[in-house]
Amino acid sequence: MKMDKPAGGSDPALSNDLHVAVIMDGNGRWAQNRGWPRLVGHRKGAERVRELVNACPDLGIRYLTLYAFSTENWSRTTEEVLGLMSLFGRYIKREAGRMKTEGVRMRIIGDRSPLDPKLQALFDWIEADTAGNDRVHLTVAINYGGRDEIRRAAQSVARAVQAGALDAAAITDQVMSRHLDTGALPDPDLVVRTSGETRVSNFLLWQAAYAEYVFTPVLWPDFTPDTMKTVLDGFAKRERRFGGVLT
Ligand code: FPP
Repeated sequence: MKMDKPAGGSDPALSNDLHVAVIMDGNGRWAQNRGWPRLVGHRKGAERVRELVNACPDLGIRYLTLYAFSTENWSRTTEEVLGLMSLFGRYIKREAGRMKTEGVRMRIIGDRSPLDPKLQALFDWIEADTAGNDRVHLTVAINYGGRDEIRRAAQSVARAVQAGALDAAAITDQVMSRHLDTGALPDPDLVVRTSGETRVSNFLLWQAAYAEYVFTPVLWPDFTPDTMKTVLDGFAKRERRFGGVLT
């Protein structure tokens, strides 16, 4: 027996509107295990992203949210940081046409203000270019941290209160959700983390309050649409109670 979800989203057992979020971990180890530079792992990881996005309609995933670069990832070498940024740009340029024809709407979440202005412009462009699409919602978190996002949302809410547009007593969970970077998205049903690590690492802290978590030992560059299918089959068997009791 499934319980109703408190806010946002849909019952995954009843629809093809699943929201799956993924912490794509293990690219560096995958490459290092082969004696290759870490960036080779990230490039293979980008191929897996492309495959997964294309497989979303068959997997019943309407919303796919991917953790690509955290607010903590700046501590990596300049070579790796620049390599990742350039990979994000290349992905958008290469995939723009396919996203258009396949009905993929792309969004970027996180604080983009410290990023290269050219990359920021590319983010603005792809978001506008795919804004009319509704078949798959691909959201990529770049310079994203859950606490940072909640702090920015709190500032935005405080500004609305200061301006007299919002009464402090009217700040509900829904108001907070709308001020997050993910304001237009339902909450995730499932968060998957690859590579055997069992941490949340500051990802979707507010949004994943009722999500199920799956931790798999598979490294992200080995994570195929078939692996996701296996994960989803396991997820479908779980009881989701959202704090209630089974009836
Ligand atoms: C974590 O693995 C992965 C990242 C920090 C980068 C994720 C980026 C991609 C998959 C590239 C493409 C993404 C898009 C959206 C085009 P890690 O490097 O921390 O691995 P490790 O723990 O084995 O070192």
